[in-house]
Amino acid sequence: MTDEADAYQEKDMPKTGDRKAYIVTGPTSGIGLRTALELAKRGTVVLVGRDRRKLDEVQKTIERKKGRHAVSVVCDLSDIASVRRAAAEIIALDLPIAGLLNNAGITQQHATNSAQGWDMTFATNHLGPFVLTEALMPHLPDGANVVFICSAVEDPERKPAKAVGFRGGRYISAEASARGAWKPGGSARPGADAYATSKQCNLATAMVFARETPRLRINALEPGFIPNTGLGRGGNFFVRFLLNHVLPLLAPFMKYWSNPKRAGRVAAKVLINARGETGIYYDDGGHPTQGSALVRDTSFQDRVVAETRALLATLPA
Ligand SMILES: NC(=O)c1ccc[n+]([C@@H]2O[C@H](COP(=O)([O-])OP(=O)(O)OC[C@H]3O[C@@H](n4cnc5c(N)ncnc54)[C@H](OP(=O)(O)O)[C@@H]3O)[C@@H](O)[C@H]2O)c1
Repeated sequence: MTDEADAYQEKDMPKTGDRKAYIVTGPTSGIGLRTALELAKRGTVVLVGRDRRKLDEVQKTIERKKGRHAVSVVCDLSDIASVRRAAAEIIALDLPIAGLLNNAGITQQHATNSAQGWDMTFATNHLGPFVLTEALMPHLPDGANVVFICSAVEDPERKPAKAVGFRGGRYISAEASARGAWKPGGSARPGADAYATSKQCNLATAMVFARETPRLRINALEPGFIPNTGLGRGGNFFVRFLLNHVLPLLAPFMKYWSNPKRAGRVAAKVLINARGETGIYYDDGGHPTQGSALVRDTSFQDRVVAETRALLATLPA
């Protein structure tokens, strides 16, 4: 862990009086919760999550402090119909939106299908955020920030990810991912290829959206390795996996270690950043980094986005 994240300070932040609105998906736990609490110091937070009760709790926590404000929007990101409804609800709020953080994400040990019959991990982590972002972008003012939370596990050459059994993003096509099919030669760990591929698509999407829409600031963030979040709570796979396999192996790579509070501060920093950078992939300290060789290839990035749009176009409007 570097000190720079903690050195990211008030100087990069707009004045408290300059009230803007920030949208955070998955604000009920882990990185998203910490980011929402951080952003609430700066503006209204639009909490976008699937569980009304949990959203209400976060909203209450934020509004317990005088002058802080949040709005809750129920949205199941795995369900495209729910995402479209939520986007319409957010637009109707007519808030001065300065940032959208695509943070919500899952891992699954046993693959299930979404409402549209698509792989649940791919739908939740890639398709839902893709639809939400495309629906909101035309309504964002010039200079607004969009950030996708990605993961280093998309890179098959990333040593810590390799050490724990990831084999990188295994993208064949958007249609194949929706069927739960991944490039052969992948991980023996259940759910690892689906997760890594969804994160590969997040990063490719951020880079294409940044090129397509230069009036907005569209970036990606790798938040580091954070064992104590809810990720993978289904079947407690993640926790068992970490305790039994990851923690012992990761000792030599502790510099990638982070925690929700620190990751939330870095995510807020990247989301609030008024410096106008776009198309940047930031590391866990908020410094520019690089994704895998494949995801840096613009023709690959373009293919992911074009195929995702084609897949989504198969749904009724
Ligand atoms: N933890 C790490 O080491 C790590 C490393 C790299 C990247 N990341 C990424 O960081 C992001 C946040 O993960 P985290 O570690 O903070 O995990 P987390 O604590 O499990 O938080 C995930 C959030 O996403 C929400 N969510 C899940 N499925 C959803 C759906 N269908 N619709 C709407 N919201 C949904 C969860 O809501 P509920 O509370 O309702 O479940 C929760 O608020 C993810 O994109 C993850 O891939 C994490």
